[in-house]
Amino acid sequence: WKTLDDMDLDGKRVLVRVDINVPVEDGRVTDTTRIDRIVPTVNDIVNAGGIPILLAHFDRPKGKVVPEMSLNQVVPALQEALGRDVTFIDGDYGDRVGQLGQGDVALLENLRFNPGEEKNDDAFAGRLASLGDVYVNDAFSAAHRAHASTEALARKLPACAGRLMAEELGALEKALGDPERPLMAVVGGAKVSTKLDLLGNLVRKVNHLVIGGGMANTFLAAQGIDVGKSLAEHDMTGTARDILDRADEAGCEIILPQDVVVAREFKAGADSEVVPADKCPADAMILDTGPDSVERIGKAMANCRTLIWNGPLGAFEIAPFDVATNQAARMAADQTKAGNLVSVAGGGDTVAALNKAGAAGDFTYISSAGGAFLEWMEGKALPGVAALED
Ligand code: 3PG
Repeated sequence: WKTLDDMDLDGKRVLVRVDINVPVEDGRVTDTTRIDRIVPTVNDIVNAGGIPILLAHFDRPKGKVVPEMSLNQVVPALQEALGRDVTFIDGDYGDRVGQLGQGDVALLENLRFNPGEEKNDDAFAGRLASLGDVYVNDAFSAAHRAHASTEALARKLPACAGRLMAEELGALEKALGDPERPLMAVVGGAKVSTKLDLLGNLVRKVNHLVIGGGMANTFLAAQGIDVGKSLAEHDMTGTARDILDRADEAGCEIILPQDVVVAREFKAGADSEVVPADKCPADAMILDTGPDSVERIGKAMANCRTLIWNGPLGAFEIAPFDVATNQAARMAADQTKAGNLVSVAGGGDTVAALNKAGAAGDFTYISSAGGAFLEWMEGKALPGVAALED
């Protein structure tokens, strides 16, 4: 794929697909991370004499105009991040786009108000293409969607990756495409069923796979361990066993909790105790990975050169069940700071967990993507990236 440096942008209308699908409460943006991360692309286009016209979605209006899902509410945060006025264009954008001049930055209304967007509709992509001269995709976190603005449009205009897209792809390639080994993956989260493809892909690629969170309980149950009242998918134990066998064949070491933190209730400050993983009381739940297991993870991590992380190791939202996630995240951050480790993390809860641990700032790279990061970890081709490559 090409980058901004390969394109002549002077005097050109540049359609920039961005992902500013940010959390909003009472009409105000509560986390500007995704907005902040598109600033270099927009500025570089302006500085090269181009007129950026931002294309984006917000939430899931399903092809209908839903006023509460207007991108209008993101404009103040966008203007602040860019330090420039942003012209918001809704309705029939053709005329308004025609009036833009050099120095202007525009944002079109939520593309998903139009049913053509999610259908990857050729006519809708053609309408968008008629508004610009060049297409830039800076929305890695929406690249797993084959939508008109991420896929079809890329094939209609000279196209390239924006700065954030290029940065994401570079970091991910370093972590899983062509990593320095040994390579460790940390995968947590509630359910095995949502991460099957991911685990299946990782056992073929990584040297150590740490499994934590609720999904570890399913793996423990697969080994015949009684997990009491813990969250576990008992209908997935066969699948879990299959993943363990495949890891064995591929020479991938699976690190499951050997000790666990259990409690009778899941609430802040609940009484908890540490027990061996096979000694969960019948009336208790496993809510975190235990200290011996964290130590083992730390020892394995100390020998690794690359780490890829998705999902918390325990029920990190509520103390004291955040300890394993916090400690493992800090260990990764310290190894990274010492220059021993390339650490890459991404996916919904993960970034929140690493922020909470105060570790995110020291990771080598934090992806802005949720679902797209997972699909990439699953080894799937992302339509938005494939369209740029073609
Ligand atoms: C995200 O928030 O992960 C992206 O913006 C994609 O949103 P979607 O899951 O609604 O397609």
